[in-house]
Amino acid sequence: MTEDKSKQTSNESHRVVTSGDIEVSTYLEIAKEIGGEQPVTAKEAVSGAEREAIVVIDFGSQYSMLIARRVRECQVYCELLPYDAPWEKIAPLNPKGFILSGGPASVNEPGAPLAPAYIYESHLPILGICYGMQVLTKQLGGKVTPGTKHEYGHAILHLSAVDSPLFANLPISSSVWMSHADRIEEMPPGFTPLAYTENSPIAVMGNNEGIFGLQFHPEVAHTPEGKAILKNFVYQICGCQGNWTIGNFIDESISTIKKQVGKGKVISALSGGVDSSVVATIIHRAIGDQLTCIFVNHGLLRREEVERTLNVFRLNLGMNIIYVDASERFLHRLKGVTDPEMKRKIIGEEFIRVFEEEANKIGKVDFLAQGTLYPDVIESAASGSRASAKIKTHHNVGGLPAKMTLNLLEPLRNLFKDEVRQVGLALGLPEEMVWRQPFPGPGLAIRIIGEVTKEKLEILRGADWVVMNEIKKAKLYRQLWQSFAVLTDVKSVGVMGDYRTYGYLVAIRAVTSEDAMTADWARLPYDLLARISNRIVNEVPGVNRVVYDITSKPPSTIEWE
Ligand code: XMP
Repeated sequence: MTEDKSKQTSNESHRVVTSGDIEVSTYLEIAKEIGGEQPVTAKEAVSGAEREAIVVIDFGSQYSMLIARRVRECQVYCELLPYDAPWEKIAPLNPKGFILSGGPASVNEPGAPLAPAYIYESHLPILGICYGMQVLTKQLGGKVTPGTKHEYGHAILHLSAVDSPLFANLPISSSVWMSHADRIEEMPPGFTPLAYTENSPIAVMGNNEGIFGLQFHPEVAHTPEGKAILKNFVYQICGCQGNWTIGNFIDESISTIKKQVGKGKVISALSGGVDSSVVATIIHRAIGDQLTCIFVNHGLLRREEVERTLNVFRLNLGMNIIYVDASERFLHRLKGVTDPEMKRKIIGEEFIRVFEEEANKIGKVDFLAQGTLYPDVIESAASGSRASAKIKTHHNVGGLPAKMTLNLLEPLRNLFKDEVRQVGLALGLPEEMVWRQPFPGPGLAIRIIGEVTKEKLEILRGADWVVMNEIKKAKLYRQLWQSFAVLTDVKSVGVMGDYRTYGYLVAIRAVTSEDAMTADWARLPYDLLARISNRIVNEVPGVNRVVYDITSKPPSTIEWE
């Protein structure tokens, strides 16, 4: 197996790209068009408990979101806001402290982003990380100079101020992860060095007013004591109590949904994916039958997917589900279509039509529920480097904006994917559903190269079933970002018994990834690949050859289309 990066952050998927909820991403667009009311947020949801939060000021580091996740793992609510966010956005969070993130800029460059004045004027504790430490240094009167060499990778941190509350319960030396070019030449007045590494005499600095700087990244897994340092900062320095728990979130969220919806009606698209499932379940908990879920089967789902989803939501949870089998309609529209983007467009459009037809039958509806997650909110609110890093919008299958005057209900808006999974489990959803790998909205259509036909769908379902089954048996399912079969349009000669065969070539794809933006092909054990291959050629008629895709992303993409 490759290094298991997915374990670390696979939960932090970029929803738009990876959720597999074609309907949700499409409706996000609709809702924007019609300018829905402000949705219910987790921010409001924690308001009942004594509200406390840590705010991460984002300078564009690739790890900024990870800082927020780590803080939340310490049971303290944390939001990420761009470095130019106005105080009005910060104040309602009732921050107990600030963390300044890393970032790609150099503080001495003209126009380099700096921290807003209110950070310092608030007199709250501040922790600057990497670039954030350099920002502190520059703004508080110290000196930052370009390092003679870049420090990248592992370093050993030696504590010189062992009694600092930032280091409570830490060993005297530990491994940390560095990634910087500039260094602190002179600390600002009032600061003292607290720890050092071989190349950074000032790897940690602090003053008596609760302001600290770390030259390394405590948020990454390569800094084993990093979470302890963050925990010390939020508890010992900022005085947080730790009231961000999934139980609190669920209770508060349910009461906020009740308040917001009143006697109104809510519709939600259900796909069986994690986000739409958790959204439906939490709203159902809050308002019961005022929620109707519409489950459109576009005929491009995997084996048993429809039955399993209906079982959970209709039978076990007793929800109002409108199930529409629109397979024939979609297949008809996909006839003769081979271009991947055209497939996406057709499926997106048709999906909206079917959904609208069904929604209209319900009569007056007030809210549209969506599974928007926190990473999407951050991306769309971001400024500067983060905003320009937004990619892959083509996966937001372009639907036709409908004239639905609906308000948005987005109860997961402030959650990371791993938190959504915890909420799902706490609400009693089956593990199988909560830990489902991402599945693209256009479904099997983009895993069949060329025209989509009933016959090919059956072949691919058979092959996919074997892959999923074997990967789960090998206990690798959760470690992999995705694992699936692709039906190519290549046919090749084979021999079975005494007969010549001429059958399809199936490709197996299995990748590890943190966020689907990059991915590494998974080093699956040979005997597992052998079992998958044997079973596919024996159990799936029409297939006589199996290959394994050993390309990473980039240059390939995860899906073949
Ligand atoms: P690629 O193939 O671009 O995929 O490396 C990255 C992630 O996005 C998923 N994907 C989609 N999800 N609609 C979706 O909802 C789409 O059209 C779509 N195309 C790709 C893919 O499964 C992977 O997780």
